[in-house]
Amino acid sequence: MISMSILACNYQTATETKEKDTTMKTFDEETFQAKLNYTDYHSYARIEEAVVNHLSWNAEVDFDQKVINATATYKINNKKGVDTIYLDSRNLNIKEVRRDDHEGPLGYMAHDRSNFLGTELAIPINPETNTISIDYSTTKGAAALQFLDPVQTAGKKHPFLFTQSQAILARTWIPCQDSPGIRFTYDANVTVPKGMMALMSASNPSEISEDGMYSFEMDQAVPSYLMALAVGNISYQSLGNETGVYAEPEMIEAAAYEFADMQNMVDTAESLYGPYRWGKYDVIVLPPSFPFGGMENPRLTFATPTIIAGDRSLTALIAHELAHSWSGNLVTNAAWEDIWLNEGFTVYFENRIMEEIFGADFANMLAILSYQDLNDEIARLTEEGKAADTRLRVELKDRDPDEGLTAIPYDKGFYLLKLIEETVGREKWDEFLKSYFEKFAFRIMTTDAFVYYINNQLINQNEAWADQIRLDEWVHGEGLPDNCPIVNSTRFIQVEDQLAAWQNGAEPSTLASTEWMTPEWLHFLRNLPNEMSEDQMKSLDDGFGFTNSGNSEIVSAWFEKVIPNNYQKAEEATEEFLIEVGRRKFLVPIYKAILKSDNGKTRARSIYEKARPNYHAVSSETLDKMLLD
Ligand code: BES
Ligand code: ZN
Repeated sequence: MISMSILACNYQTATETKEKDTTMKTFDEETFQAKLNYTDYHSYARIEEAVVNHLSWNAEVDFDQKVINATATYKINNKKGVDTIYLDSRNLNIKEVRRDDHEGPLGYMAHDRSNFLGTELAIPINPETNTISIDYSTTKGAAALQFLDPVQTAGKKHPFLFTQSQAILARTWIPCQDSPGIRFTYDANVTVPKGMMALMSASNPSEISEDGMYSFEMDQAVPSYLMALAVGNISYQSLGNETGVYAEPEMIEAAAYEFADMQNMVDTAESLYGPYRWGKYDVIVLPPSFPFGGMENPRLTFATPTIIAGDRSLTALIAHELAHSWSGNLVTNAAWEDIWLNEGFTVYFENRIMEEIFGADFANMLAILSYQDLNDEIARLTEEGKAADTRLRVELKDRDPDEGLTAIPYDKGFYLLKLIEETVGREKWDEFLKSYFEKFAFRIMTTDAFVYYINNQLINQNEAWADQIRLDEWVHGEGLPDNCPIVNSTRFIQVEDQLAAWQNGAEPSTLASTEWMTPEWLHFLRNLPNEMSEDQMKSLDDGFGFTNSGNSEIVSAWFEKVIPNNYQKAEEATEEFLIEVGRRKFLVPIYKAILKSDNGKTRARSIYEKARPNYHAVSSETLDKMLLD
């Protein structure tokens, strides 16, 4: 793999503020540039030699064969006048490669590594070459794609297709330079069966076209992991000036109700950290097999239907994906080792949006849940001999970047930023963050460059701050530094009191729980004793209806607690949930709990056998390792 240097990076220099700020004198441009150098171990592209600038994608979605037939035409920039451009692909059926300055089909090299990196495409070019074109089709092994049969949708009548490109799956449906540091604009013409709608991370239609043809325009440069496509029987409802929701017609009303706060969220986010730069902010509610909670595809967040709780209580996830419109989509992690720069900043930003809309006590509850997740994750990774993965910046050379996708970049990242906020004060911190998003918009950031930048721009302004924060220990050290902020919540203390009352014999119906929102229920469930009797579980279930709760977070937290206690009344519901829902975050802990219970391996495998055909490859790859090895 090739080291990349971003010498051409023309981010705005900070000269304007130089006079005002004495610490700027220590900021050395060359040093900073050097720290922006990085190696992407997960792409064959050679960023300093030749890159793609624009993609024109012509595609036809074939639901019978479950493939996409397409031509990808790239405008290229041969920076060094080299004779080869390198692209990533994986499990693609490449039919023909052409070049604007060459007659007829072009010979090229395909070097297959037979692993998650896929196949290196080496395409011969000249200094004069402007465009290259690749005719190809996807194959059954396209890990980004999930073709759903009608029975797997809400409407049950039409098939559905969606993609999930992050981290390195874009190459399984489009040959591309699949590196977060390479941005390109795109346009697309997509043909789908009549009666279906196609949507991308681009300008989108709001109605189904007569002829099944759709054109897309994405005039803001994005990295490949933000390329996205969804096709199905989809309808649209506007929610505000710049916001709206897409879903199957059967889901659209519930979705519109659930996301009524979305325009307010966008306004709030803008008031915190500057303008929303992507035009529209829409969300599509996908079928339940979507393997993540949400994915921040520009202009069109992809979301799991498991956040439709009916009471708007799980919309922090929308705040999270929206926040990525700044942290991630504007300022992008250079390589997957730096993913905390995307996710940690986003969890922080999400928490600030929730604080504005639902109040500090609500945001504090979310922060405490995040603290619990963080400590659980550190304990798990340490136990599994992976303590090195508790560092904010993880080592992913020769590893699938999916392995870096733990709670660490999210929750440890969040707590570091919270610590900085508390140390320097919210005003200075917000000012810093706002200008950070502005200055590095549409550019990449490495961990090293960020550390250098924040030290010079913020932390060194006060002698005491560096010692109070201990940035290096947070970024490169294992575990949780002892200066991690402690968040308190009176609402959680009240939950703990009620839990104690129940443990002392109070009936569930007498507990003061009528005002509880999802975080309170989660705190209650997570703190139930590990061992419970059949009677105890039954009385809780009768009192609160956990087993049949329509709230996916609550129901999965409940399953995790009762499975080890062999609560038979929940067995059927657990199985139904595992067959219906494909969101990996829920599946992994539930299957783990089953594995640990009596006769667990047999039961887990028998459920998995039924459920696996419903899962997207992201989830089944993880679960195969857990259940089939
Ligand atoms: N961008 C992530 C999902 C992702 C990260 C996919 C890395 C593949 C590789 C998305 O924004 C995310 O974090 N989703 C979370 C939402 C939650 C933290 C609110 C999820 O899916 O659970
Ligand atoms: Zn995220």
